[in-house]
Amino acid sequence: MSTTSVPGSLPAIDAADGTAVRVIAVASGKGGVGKTNIAVNLALALAQTGESVLLMDADLGMANVDVMLNIRPQYDLYHVITGEKTLDEVIIEGPLGVGIIPAASGIGRMADLSVHEHAGLIHAFDEIGRRVDTLVVDTAAGISDSVVSFSRAAQEVLVVVCDEPASITDAYALIKVLSLEHGIRRFQILANMVNDAEHGRRLYARLANVAGSFLDVSLGYVGAIPLDERLKQAVRQQSPVLLSYPHSPSGVAFQVLGKRIKGLPRLPAASGHLGFFIERSSKAQQVAGGVRP
Ligand SMILES: Nc1ncnc2c1ncn2[C@@H]1O[C@H](COP(=O)(O)OP(=O)(O)OP(=O)(O)O)[C@@H](O)[C@H]1O
Ligand SMILES: [Mg+2]
Repeated sequence: MSTTSVPGSLPAIDAADGTAVRVIAVASGKGGVGKTNIAVNLALALAQTGESVLLMDADLGMANVDVMLNIRPQYDLYHVITGEKTLDEVIIEGPLGVGIIPAASGIGRMADLSVHEHAGLIHAFDEIGRRVDTLVVDTAAGISDSVVSFSRAAQEVLVVVCDEPASITDAYALIKVLSLEHGIRRFQILANMVNDAEHGRRLYARLANVAGSFLDVSLGYVGAIPLDERLKQAVRQQSPVLLSYPHSPSGVAFQVLGKRIKGLPRLPAASGHLGFFIERSSKAQQVAGGVRP
C-alpha cells in the first residue's frame, strides 16, 4: 500500500484507485439527531456499492456504534494509542466487510493525548494493512476538540439536521465555528427524520439561507432520511436498518445516500488525511520520525 503525507497531518492511505481515502465526518451540533444511525448505515451503503469502508466511532464520551451493531470490542483505539495493539488488531469485521474501529473508551478527550500517544497513532494509521476507500467517522454531539479535529481531517463534513429549532441553530453554530475558526468552507447537509422530500429541502433551505447570509461557506444538499418506525425498530434490535429492513423508507433512502456520496468528486490526495490527532502538534511528528517528502 502506498502512502502520501503533507506537513501537519498523518500519512494518507491511498484508496484502490490511487486517490486519497475519503474521510467523511458525520456531525450535527445537537445530540440525538441521528448521527450514529447515519454513520453506520452510510458505511454499509457504501460497502454495498463495492467500496472498502472503515467506520470509526469517535464519540468518545458515549460509544454507540458497537451498541448499534451489537458488537463487544475487546480492544479499541485506546490500546492502539498505548501501543498494546495495532490498528489492524482492533478493527472488528462488521457486516458487509465494513471494518469497525471502536471508540477509545479510556480517553476523555482527544486533546488530552500526549505527544507519545500522537506518535503511536501516526504509526498505527501508517501501518494499516488493508485497502480503504472511505472512512466514515461518527462524531460526538457538540463542538468539542475531537469534533473539530475529525472535521478538519475530513474531506466531507456531513452535517445532520432535523426539524427542531435547536437542530438548525446548533448546526449553524457548528458550521460557524468550523468555518471562522478552522477554515472549513465546504459542508454537506443531510436532513433526517423528515416527512417527505419537500420537508428535507425546506430544512436545508433554512440552514442554507442563514449560513449564506452570514458565513463564507458552501453548503451542498445530499438528501434526506425519512422518519421511519422501522429504523427505531432496527435500533432496538441492534441491527442496522439497511440490513434488517432494506425495503423500508429509511433503508431505501440510505441506499440512495450511499450512491450519492460515492458520486461526490473525490478531492486530490493531499486533501484527505487521517491526521486527526496531529494537526496541532508538530513535536509529535518529530517523535514519529518526521514528515516524509
Ligand atoms: N430516520 C429516523 N426515523 C426514526 N427515528 C430515528 C431516525 N433517526 C434517528 N432516529 C431515532 O433517534 C435516536 C437517536 O439516533 P442516533 O443515536 O443515531 O443519534 P445521534 O445523533 O448519534 O445521538 P448522539 O448525539 O447521542 O450520539 C435513534 O435511536 C432513533 O430512535
Ligand atoms: Mg451518536
